[in-house]
Amino acid sequence: MAQVILQLEGIAKDFSDGKILRRVLKKLDLTIYSQELTIIAGPSGSGKTTLLSIMGLILQPSEGKLFIKDKEVSRYSENELATVRMRNFGFVFQLAELLPALSVMENIIIAQALQGARVPSSLRERAVSLLKDFGLQEYIHGKSQQLSSGQKQRVAIARALINDPLLLLCDEPTSALDSESSTIVLDTLKRISKESGRGVIMVTHDPRVFPYADRLIKIEDGAVGYDSKTDTNEEVAP
Ligand SMILES: Nc1ncnc2c1ncn2[C@@H]1O[C@H](COP(=O)(O)OP(=O)(O)O)[C@@H](O)[C@H]1O
Ligand SMILES: [Mg+2]
Repeated sequence: MAQVILQLEGIAKDFSDGKILRRVLKKLDLTIYSQELTIIAGPSGSGKTTLLSIMGLILQPSEGKLFIKDKEVSRYSENELATVRMRNFGFVFQLAELLPALSVMENIIIAQALQGARVPSSLRERAVSLLKDFGLQEYIHGKSQQLSSGQKQRVAIARALINDPLLLLCDEPTSALDSESSTIVLDTLKRISKESGRGVIMVTHDPRVFPYADRLIKIEDGAVGYDSKTDTNEEVAP
């Protein structure tokens, strides 16, 4: 059953370009549900990364409230936000950003390894199971530099899933990929979005990925211009 994961109420974001304050996001109201691949689309500069960063508690909004599973987190301290972020979110970016000299396994558990304590074997087992799931088991102990860009991106997705997050937040994860790798990554994200209690949000400027969306939201001028969940009068053309 789909559940509410994230709620945005009147979220606005201003950036100042020197002297002038510019409103990039204008009073957005959005509810994000589990069991869905939500695609947020818009041209370059429309505020997609800003919105994703606010949703992922990386960036503070200028106005508005944010709820995670009914709990308001808008006034949390930096430390509290970091804890909520670590427990609930996984991030995937345009470039996989793996450390080339480290093995695939080491890349996946790097955040935990950097914390100093011994990485529990359960975490390594989860990494192995994710890599098997993504068809990458033969590369577990190989250096990540030998992987193709599509394989690297799947490793980055495994890394984002290692803490079993509620929500996977992906910023243009297919933009740097050829169409074949892009299809594999999109299939993977779609499948992950159907896992129990999980949701996936992907922002993109690429209309070719729209057919993968369970829900398509278009950002125009810092506001929701179209939402397939509520607007039924527009064709969702690829
Ligand atoms: N830290 C920042 N300081 C000032 N302006 C910013 C900052 N981050 C983003 N912007 C501006 O906000 C707008 C939206 O940016 P962004 O969210 O990155 O768009 P998108 O991801 O859709 O390409 C752009 O005009 C960008 O220049
Ligand atoms: Mg962006």
